Amino acid sequence: MHFENTLQYAQKLDKNDGLSAYRKAFHFPKVNGKEVIYFTGNSLGLQPVRTQSFVNEIMTDWKELAVEGHFHADKPWWDYHERLAAPLAKIVGAKPEEVTVMNTLTVNLHLLMVSFYRPKGKRYKILCEEKAFPSDQYLFQSQVRFHGYDADDAIIVVKKRPGEHHWRTEDVLSKIDEIGDELALVLIGGVNYYNGQVFDIQKITRAGKSVGAMVGWDLAHAVGNIALRLHDWKVDFAAWCSYKYMNSGPGNASGVFINEKYLNRKDIQRFEGWWGTKKETRFMMKPTFEPMENADAWQISNAPVLSVAPYLASLELFEEVGMERLTAKRDRLVGYLEFVLGEVDKAVDARFEVITPKERGCQLSVFLHGQGRSLFDYLMENGVITDWREPNVIRLAPAPFYCSFEDMFRFGTILKQGILELGEA
Ligand SMILES: Cc1ncc(COP(=O)(O)O)c(C=O)c1O
Repeated sequence: MHFENTLQYAQKLDKNDGLSAYRKAFHFPKVNGKEVIYFTGNSLGLQPVRTQSFVNEIMTDWKELAVEGHFHADKPWWDYHERLAAPLAKIVGAKPEEVTVMNTLTVNLHLLMVSFYRPKGKRYKILCEEKAFPSDQYLFQSQVRFHGYDADDAIIVVKKRPGEHHWRTEDVLSKIDEIGDELALVLIGGVNYYNGQVFDIQKITRAGKSVGAMVGWDLAHAVGNIALRLHDWKVDFAAWCSYKYMNSGPGNASGVFINEKYLNRKDIQRFEGWWGTKKETRFMMKPTFEPMENADAWQISNAPVLSVAPYLASLELFEEVGMERLTAKRDRLVGYLEFVLGEVDKAVDARFEVITPKERGCQLSVFLHGQGRSLFDYLMENGVITDWREPNVIRLAPAPFYCSFEDMFRFGTILKQGILELGEA
């Protein structure tokens, strides 16, 4: 793609961008009286303007209807979460019955492991990527200990090759083959939080299934970022949070995918609660659990509607726009960001290293040689919100919903200025 590093050119790209109007659908924080350049949609997405009214609706219903809100609010609370399944299913490539929203991400991964990590005999090992997100590492360690195994023996990590910054699919596949019938579960982050790499979910899932393992995915950095076809790819289960590219607010509710082949089955182990039992008979308060016929069978408690409401608001926006338009803009925007970084590097010999491979979504992780931390601080003070990961990596994730091409250009200007002022080159 041919690009130019000028303000006029960036503004022309914005003018031709069919999603540019959606910038106004989000609240931007300000630094020094100016809207920030927001690169941390991979950490906490911006607040959609409409979200407040979704939350206010619950607060008003609670004020005016109190307990009656469960059944008589405009959007009754008792089945509020069901509204999210159909729009979310489109985003993750699933059938609506395979999707539900509940709890938070790590909690859901634990609950899903109750069902899908069932070590037996020689088949007890878990395969994950080296340096998986820490919460996932704690999840694996505590789960294998819970089942009486030693973490060093039961957890197998796929490593990057020396000198490389990304995992190779062939290395993941050969590790799966090597572990073979000892492999109980493959559970990997679909998009790696550190280097932004998109894993080949379809190929890895197929390989895991071919040796008889369960295959699940932590999609925290994938949902709302990349195109997903969880059902067609025959993924067993997946979970994700809603506060990153899904723009649903800090620490908010998590989404879950459970392949339809596990729905309506009596032989699945599951931790159960009253919100998973059939809604038709739920309030008869019967002592026996009759599971919902969809992924809601994994629900335990009544839904925290105050946190589900922002998720619903956000899904309305995704419904309007669709993943296809978002991913198309994402590729142009990230391509332009990469170009701008290259131009800055040429101008000041900054020696950046983009460690994100070509299999990528929104995020570029950039290794800054030299005084990276002071450059990061300079960016933050000058209204570029990015984040820092040891050692010397900044992550730049321009979310296509609300970031502009002009943002990328302005970022390049601030970055260049920072390097010159700090003498980084
Ligand atoms: C890849 C990944 N997994 C798990 C988590 C943990 O999420 P939670 O705190 O919602 O359980 C995060 C949080 O950022 C994450 O990025």
